[in-house]
Amino acid sequence: MKKSIVTGGIALIPVLLLSGFALAQSAQVETLRGAEVDEPIPLDQIHKNVEGRIQRNYRQQPPLIPHSVEQYQIDLRTNQCLSCHDWSKAGERNAPTLSMTHYLDRDGNELDQIAGTRYFCNQCHVPQADAPPLVDNVFQPSANK
Ligand code: HEC
Ligand code: HEC
Repeated sequence: MKKSIVTGGIALIPVLLLSGFALAQSAQVETLRGAEVDEPIPLDQIHKNVEGRIQRNYRQQPPLIPHSVEQYQIDLRTNQCLSCHDWSKAGERNAPTLSMTHYLDRDGNELDQIAGTRYFCNQCHVPQADAPPLVDNVFQPSANK
């Protein structure tokens, strides 16, 4: 009887240690966004802080979108971005043409139409938002950018 109380007590030690640790941890965690995790914070509807095309921060960066995108639908059947940016339309719409990389399939074959891997533009290209960095950004592109 006595023995089992002692072993029970010993078995409890790691549990107590762990829960103490968890408590100490939760006391240290502070929210950066100033709200609970499940609390939505709507962003200001600013999509254009800088007019015109925006300088890239590193060579391979997908350029930021300098215009609003809310009204342009992209789904399996239609991609309205292409109605201005596809090579066949860009001239008359006065929009920058998609670069050649957008017409290469994954085996490097040149296509006439946008490659499937580039179809969902907003996978890579994002509009500007008024979202100041929460922590200092010390990113530097490599020397041979
Ligand atoms: C009505 C025509 C039109 C449509 C539709 C359109 N764009 Fe544009 N887009 C433009 C024009 C014009 C520019 C150039 C803006 C400038 O130089 O000021 C541009 C610029 C861009 C750029 C910047 C290119 C660079 O080199 O800086 C990206 C990226 C882009 N658009 C992506 C998109 C995406 C993604 C969509 C669909 C969600 C889209 N565009 C729909 C006309 C359009
Ligand atoms: C897988 C990522 C990816 C997807 C998807 C993608 N792009 Fe790009 N895009 C890039 C990158 C990276 C660049 C810059 C390097 C380059 O030109 O390949 C770029 C460049 C561009 C440029 C500038 C071209 C130039 O010569 O200045 C435009 C415009 C553009 N993309 C529009 C679009 C549109 C519209 C779509 C959807 C139909 C799209 N992109 C899909 C990654 C992507």
